Amino acid sequence: MKSEKTLKPFYLDLSREERESLKNIYGEILDSGTLILGPHTEKFEGEFAKYIGTKYAVSMNTCTSVLEVLCVAAGLANKKVAVTNNTNFASVEAIIRAGAYPCLLDVDQQTLMPDPEQVIKYIKEFEIDGLMWVHIGGNIVPGFERLAQFCVESNVKLLEDCAHAHGSKVSGKMAGTFGFGGGFSFFPTKVMTTMEGGMLVTDDEEVSMIAKSMRNQGKRFAAYGGLHYDHGNSWRMSEISAAMGSIQLAKLDQMIAVRMRAAKIVESYLSSAGISYCDVSNMDQASRYKIMVLLNDNNKSIEAIKERLQLAGIVLGGGVYETPISLQPVFKGINKLGSLDVSEKLCARHICPPITSGTSEEEAHFISKKLVEVLIE
Ligand SMILES: Cc1ncc(COP(=O)(O)O)c(C=O)c1O
Repeated sequence: MKSEKTLKPFYLDLSREERESLKNIYGEILDSGTLILGPHTEKFEGEFAKYIGTKYAVSMNTCTSVLEVLCVAAGLANKKVAVTNNTNFASVEAIIRAGAYPCLLDVDQQTLMPDPEQVIKYIKEFEIDGLMWVHIGGNIVPGFERLAQFCVESNVKLLEDCAHAHGSKVSGKMAGTFGFGGGFSFFPTKVMTTMEGGMLVTDDEEVSMIAKSMRNQGKRFAAYGGLHYDHGNSWRMSEISAAMGSIQLAKLDQMIAVRMRAAKIVESYLSSAGISYCDVSNMDQASRYKIMVLLNDNNKSIEAIKERLQLAGIVLGGGVYETPISLQPVFKGINKLGSLDVSEKLCARHICPPITSGTSEEEAHFISKKLVEVLIE
């Protein structure tokens, strides 16, 4: 049986009313002539800081820029920064562009993230100065809080890559609040979007000032005109994107609730069929950006699974990640801490069903049934 509509991993969650409201706001922005660094940017930043629970939030053009700014502001140039091998280009590229040295970490097969206890050992053994921690799929692993505490006590700069983790929360604390600062992405496929965009969150006023300067060609004291005091770039968010951000943020919890409902259904089918997945039961709330279903030796190739599901009208989301950093041509020869066997051999052995904030309960049941069918046949 095929689904009536193709079930895709991306969904632009804007109602008819929200689209109309955005069109009106866009008209007002164009009429005002203030296209950047205006009232919508300030409003969105204030709302985001409040939601995450940090003192400051600074918007930028992308999360990649945010992560670079965090590395610079943390004083990590010429220093060693540990980062998972299982991540997006951006987490590692940002470290390199900030003049620091990425050191790759292998991952645990069950979480697809590094083992926090092992990371503590590596930090001590290799005198690591910074840690770029990526909450893969929006999941905060057990042991992360202890690792964060260790970083704070040892003056290791913990930077959280929260590109997947909007609204992810453990022990009452949101992703992005555990260390020196966090970076969120609003790329179209993410849990919420501003078309393109990123947000830096921090409790440190100086970091927020550095970020505001770096995103605006190093101008410390004025949005327009004025002198350049710092190196930086043109990394501002547009007023149009910020206005969209406010609308998306207002319904973020609602969007996450739909994702969580669908994920729960998928997980109940997987559990009944004895199929493994990355568990989030330790968390208060998980963004459910990705549900990572772990394949075993008896499962078909990912390509074959994708093909079979596509016939039923189900399009799988991209893996996180199918090719690790160490196997990407541009990062050939990059430093590593210990072996990268698991990430190089097993990271690709997972699939992500297409759960979005538009997934109905009925669709979640349909996806789950088909998934189990294909995985156990
Ligand atoms: C883990 C991770 N970090 C950073 C980024 C970069 O986000 P952006 O596209 O907003 O620069 C992404 C984007 O996909 C990501 O998945």
